[in-house]
Formats: sequence, C-alpha cells, structure tokens
Amino acid sequence: MAQDDVFKKIVSHSKEYGFVFPSSEIYDGMGAVYDYGQNGVELKNNIKKYWWDSMTLLNENVVGLDSAIFMHPTIWKASGHVDAFSDPLIDNKDSKKRYRADVLIEEHLAKFEDKIKKEVDKAAKKFGEAFDEVQFKATNTRVLDNESKRQALHERFAKTLNEGDLSELRQIIVDCEIVCPVSGTRNWTEVRQFNLMFATEMGSTAEGASKVYLRPETAQGIFVNFLNVQKSGRMKIPFGIAQIGKAFRNEIVARQFIFRMREFEQMEMQFFVRPGEELEWFAKWKETRIKWHKLLGMGEEKYRFHDHEKLAHYANAATDIEYQMPFGFKEVEGIHSRTDFDLSSHEKFSGKKMQYFDPELNKSYVPFVIETSIGVDRMFLSVLSGSYCEEKLDGGDTRVVLKFPPALAPVKLAILPLIKKDGLAEKAKEIMNSLKFEFTCQYDEKDSIGKRYRRQDAIGTPYCITIDHQTLEDQTVTIRNRDTMLQERIAIDSIVSKLEIEVSMKTLLRKLI
Ligand code: GAP
Repeated sequence: MAQDDVFKKIVSHSKEYGFVFPSSEIYDGMGAVYDYGQNGVELKNNIKKYWWDSMTLLNENVVGLDSAIFMHPTIWKASGHVDAFSDPLIDNKDSKKRYRADVLIEEHLAKFEDKIKKEVDKAAKKFGEAFDEVQFKATNTRVLDNESKRQALHERFAKTLNEGDLSELRQIIVDCEIVCPVSGTRNWTEVRQFNLMFATEMGSTAEGASKVYLRPETAQGIFVNFLNVQKSGRMKIPFGIAQIGKAFRNEIVARQFIFRMREFEQMEMQFFVRPGEELEWFAKWKETRIKWHKLLGMGEEKYRFHDHEKLAHYANAATDIEYQMPFGFKEVEGIHSRTDFDLSSHEKFSGKKMQYFDPELNKSYVPFVIETSIGVDRMFLSVLSGSYCEEKLDGGDTRVVLKFPPALAPVKLAILPLIKKDGLAEKAKEIMNSLKFEFTCQYDEKDSIGKRYRRQDAIGTPYCITIDHQTLEDQTVTIRNRDTMLQERIAIDSIVSKLEIEVSMKTLLRKLI
C-alpha cells in the first residue's frame, strides 16, 4: 500500500477509535489544532509517564518542574525569540497561498531522493536476489545524476540558510522552477521573515495592559528557575531539570496531522554542566535518548540521527532524532548543546546573577547546558504509525491492529463475558473490579466475541480475557494475545502475575538501566 494511503488511514482510524479529533469540529475545525479523545489521552499520558519516569526516577540528579505558560515578556527578548524566532515565508501571487520558503526547497530536495528510491526499487524487482544496491547506486547513471543534483542543491541551500540570505532563498525557488501546488504557477513574492510567537495582552485596562506571549518552548521556564531549583533542592552540578507542558507556535505550514501543530506539548530537560564538559554530556544524552526510543520495539532501523549543519547562534552541537513516519524520516526530538547562552542572556537582561558556586573547583561560573527536547504529539504520531498494521486473516477476513508497545497501550486488558446471561456478566464484573486497580481495563459485553476482539485490536489492547461457563466451575478464563491471537486458559488468580511483567512501565524502564 502506498505510504500516502497508509497515512490517510491512520488519520481516519485515530478519529474513528477516539484517539485524535480535529479541534472545534462542529464549527468546521481550526487549522493545526487537535483534541485527544478517550484513547488518545491514555496513550499520551503513558508516553509522558515513560519519559518523566525515565528522567526523574532513573536519574537521581534530574528533578521536575511545572512553570507557568505566561512569563515576563523580557524573557523572550533575552532568549532571542522576539528578534529571531521566525520562518522565511513566500506568497504565490496567483493562489494567494503562503508557504515556508525553506520547506518548498526541502520538498524539492526530497523529490531527488524519491527518484533515486524508485530506480533502486525498480532494479531490485528486476534482478531479484542477485541485486547489489550499493553497486547499483555507485554505477547507475540516472541515480548518479539525481544524486549530484541533490548534493549541489543541498549545499547551496545550507549555505543560504547559514547566511540568512532571503533573496538567494527566493532565487533557489525560481531556479528550481518550483510551482505553487494550488495555482501551478511560479509567480512568487519576495521572501520575508514572520515571527511565530502568539501575543496577547495581560491586564484589565487598555492603558495598563502589557503584551505577553504564549510560550513557544517550555525551556525558558526552566532557565529562569535554574537557581530556585538548584538552591531549594541543594543540587550539585551536573544536574537536570525536566518539564512537560504546552507550547504554542503560529506555524504557517501546518500540515501532516499532529506533526506540526499550533498548540502542542513538549517534554524538555535542561542538563547543567561545567563549562568545557558539555560535548561529553551531549554524547551521553544522545546515546541515552536513542536507547529510550529504540526500546519501544518499533524497529531500530526506523530511527536515525540527523546532525545539524546549520547551528543556532547559541549552540555548539545539535542533532535530531528522526523517526520514519509514513511521509519520510522526520524530527521527533532535538538534542542541543546550548552553551551558556540562555543563562548568560537572562543574567544580562534581568541584572540577576545566574551563577553556580562549584565547591570542588572553589569558583562560580555560568553553567553550560545540554537540552533534550521532544514533542509529545510527534512521539504520539510515531507510536501510532509504528504500531498500525492491517493483517489478512485465515478465511479472507482482515483486521486492523495497533501493535502498541504494551506499556503504552491505552487499555491493557479487555474483560469480555462470552454471553450476558447465566451469571457470566456478573462474574466478569467481579473480575473487572478486582483488576481495575492494577491495569486500565475495559469491560465489553456487546456483539459477538469476534467483533469485540476486533474492537480491542483496533485500539491496541494487548490482552483480552473471556469469561465462559467453565469460569464459573473452575475459576479459569481464556486469555488472548493481541499480536499472535493465540488463546490459553489460565487461572483468574494468575492474571495479575502474567500481565504485570508484560504490560507494566516498570519492565520497560528496567531495560533502560
Ligand atoms: N527548546 C528547544 C526547542 O523547542 P525545537 O526543535 O523547536 O526545539 C523541539 O522543538 C521539539 O518540539 C521538536 O523536536 C518537535 O518534536 C516538537 N515540536 C516543535 N514544533 C512543533 C509543532 N509545531 N508541532 C508539534 N511538535 C512540535
């Protein structure tokens, strides 16, 4: 199935089964804003718990924080967001549609990759097992031609971004003959910078009101509380502060479902270290974070690092962890070595010292910072797309199953009486009442057992137990595994011990250390 079709199916599946709804749908929706439904919120909470526990339980020197969304407006001046948090935009004069100039060029670059992939796939099909991909790519003239065009454009694009040259950015679009997807024309305006922060006013009267911003990242709440946490927690460097919270960006190119949203959630951790030790810590956190992703078992080959060529003015190293979404490898997490830029800048703008006295070195300094920053919603999308499967069953039937990592599944156990009569429903409810404190359970007595299994497959429930007449006689149930669909008979008393290991967050976390 084409990846475009898979993605469309994932989007409609998540609406049909209560994962993600378009926001304000009865009023025709709001661009790039989404609501999480009954299953979505459970999955999201489990993702957040996996991250939070991995940071704060597994690292004695990482503590949490929950800072306010509204912050003093000068914070955004100090952080550089007022002056430099912008995207280069270009309008098509015919369709009146606005685009990110850099995204238009990135999409053009991706076309060369697509062409190369098509050549490789075609040849692989033709030559079968004898096909040598490396040799093919090194010798096929069409592949070499596309690769050299891609490389040349990539170098020109990277240089232009580094220099912030907006007219050259437009020139690339013109030279590449990129057309507006709506009008099909090349009638472009100049490229302009557009700030992404949402602004509002705080205060009751027009005269007394001051302009405030909805935070575009949670990180600044951590920086301005650095000394509060360090002193009140008697933290010693190196230490980290972790935070989960909403962030807001007025994204212009808001596509790809929950990948690029205007209101989204971040899980960020700032790790404060001695100056000069930051690159060593950067390497450590890179390793820790990729392990966290890969442990979910969604395929090691689906992750890769993308080291930044263009470093932000405050960074001396940066990389993205990318996941292979149905629309290609995309950034899910950023790991940045932010130097002492943020703390020094807040020191300058606030006039307050942001220094740490290091008792071992017997001196004060502004710590350097390693940041790990992951979007909850992008992580959610990677888990959803990595888990979505359509399977053909014996007898010609098909099933859609979400093969979530069990610890992240919204419902861990479905409790299904075979029929409602003969005391089976009562027995099932009794079992549910004893298990609901252990796992998120769902009781379902409607429709045939086959239909109920399908419904649980569609929301990714790892186990279903069925209560039948034998249950009343010998206190056993059948337990069905979501992925293998195999069933076995087990004692009611052993349900907790069997499932505990399989579905608990603890099992996942233990593998991290
Ligand atoms: N404090 C650093 C920072 O905010 P970023 O690369 O701009 O860095 C970090 O964002 C992460 O936040 C990204 O890797 C992505 O997962 C998520 N993110 C950023 N913009 C987003 C958006 N518009 N919608 C959803 N997630 C977003």
